[in-house]
Amino acid sequence: MTDLTPVSFAATDIDAIAGHEGRVAVVVTPEGKLELSARRVNRLTKGAVQRFVDSDGFAKVKAGQVTTLAWPAGMAAQAVDVICLPRNHSVEEARKAGAALGKARGGKALLLAADGARRVAEIVFGLVMRDYDFAAHKTDAEASETGVTVMASKPDEAEAAAAPLLAIAEGTFMTRDLVNEPANVLTTTEFADRLSEMSELGLEVEVLDEDALEKLGMRTLLCVGQGSDSPSKVVVMQWKGGADDAAPLALVGKGVVFDTGGISLKPAGGMEDMTMDMGGAGVVAGTMRALARRKAKANVVGLVGLVENMPSGNATRPGDVITSMKGDTVEVINTDAEGRLVLCDVMWYAQERFAPAGMIDLATLTGAIIIGLGHENAGVFSNDDGFCDAFLKAASKEGEGAWRMPLGQAYDDLLKSRIADMKNIGGRPAGSVTAAQFLQRFVKPETPWIHLDIAGVASVKSATTLAPAGATGWGVMALNRLVADGYETD
Ligand code: BES
Ligand code: MN
Ligand code: ZN
Repeated sequence: MTDLTPVSFAATDIDAIAGHEGRVAVVVTPEGKLELSARRVNRLTKGAVQRFVDSDGFAKVKAGQVTTLAWPAGMAAQAVDVICLPRNHSVEEARKAGAALGKARGGKALLLAADGARRVAEIVFGLVMRDYDFAAHKTDAEASETGVTVMASKPDEAEAAAAPLLAIAEGTFMTRDLVNEPANVLTTTEFADRLSEMSELGLEVEVLDEDALEKLGMRTLLCVGQGSDSPSKVVVMQWKGGADDAAPLALVGKGVVFDTGGISLKPAGGMEDMTMDMGGAGVVAGTMRALARRKAKANVVGLVGLVENMPSGNATRPGDVITSMKGDTVEVINTDAEGRLVLCDVMWYAQERFAPAGMIDLATLTGAIIIGLGHENAGVFSNDDGFCDAFLKAASKEGEGAWRMPLGQAYDDLLKSRIADMKNIGGRPAGSVTAAQFLQRFVKPETPWIHLDIAGVASVKSATTLAPAGATGWGVMALNRLVADGYETD
């Protein structure tokens, strides 16, 4: 897995700051107040930091912005990076500043001299998240990145505040690695192996093979993978950090390791992007890792359906009728609408086995959601307003875009089939909504449910605040926050 930037914590040592040869970062407020460490660095530099905040240019500096003072006199450092943050800064502002710091440092050793455990932790988190680089297949990749040293008056407090955030970063890195990995490397088997390794973290991991899935009757899932040489699998990951009798939150992920479209073959242009069609499963895996790493006091079960959608002599044909695990029959009109066929069986299994307190599925499900919401927001569909609002709040707190979309009987009617219980597509209008309606047919009325269509946000072509171009890890922060705010015992 891609390593996190190494971060160490130490007590403030003025001589170490003066002698540090990389870069030194300090914090000031938009009003021009210097933090304790900033005052110390100001003294070392004979007033350089103060002169900067007194200058006309400082008035234009915004919260979360970083300004570089190059080659300051009185210090060995090649630059002092001045971070502008209000006292009551938002989480996003501090993370943005951290990301900017990471960019400014250009691989040089960074010493962050700052106080306030929460703020230091958020800055470090932003830096680490933005530092991610998928170099697994670059033969000229440099061996190791230089680290970051945090110097604070109470380093233990800063370290304790950073620990859960670094757990989230680690989970996000796992998601990004899985999503960035090409399909010849990340086969269904390799995916399941990487998930099995997480048992080291205290997760209970089970891998259900094709025989087991056949016995359970997961025919709609199996029909997607039957054209591929890679065997279909369902992986169940349980984190039991809560009360013994507390029903778990279930996270269900679409794990199509490659989506050619099957017999309803996709056009060649852009087909290479379909390596990311396991993005939902990637977010479920990364979230489970983050929860285990920070030992969340909640019960959460993650389930992923791992398949490859390939054309072949024994692939599913358009027109085939398949019986789902629930017992409902599906007429497969288009083999490229495969995600819903995978999810419906895994969702049914999740409810039958775990009777979850809530169920959230994540999937790179439709191109239509990209037409509707672009790359800024995931589509959110739900049968439960309270549950949905809790998720939207969590996503907003973490700065992850999420926008609620409608469900309704008229959309569901578009799935009627002449010969089976339903078709797997509803036509072009409202394609993301009819996909969600299909899924809802496999949600028990008593299960609070959210469907997240992440086709637009799982992987992007240009960098975002906290991620370079490619896989974003969208959703790990929001789901972790949902668990922390609503499911943990304390
Ligand atoms: N994996 C795709 C959706 C997708 C498209 C994800 C673009 C990421 C980027 C999904 O399996 C699919 O092919 N959906 C079809 C559905 C259609 C056949 C009803 C689509 O969106 O065109
Ligand atoms: Mn498809
Ligand atoms: Zn797909």
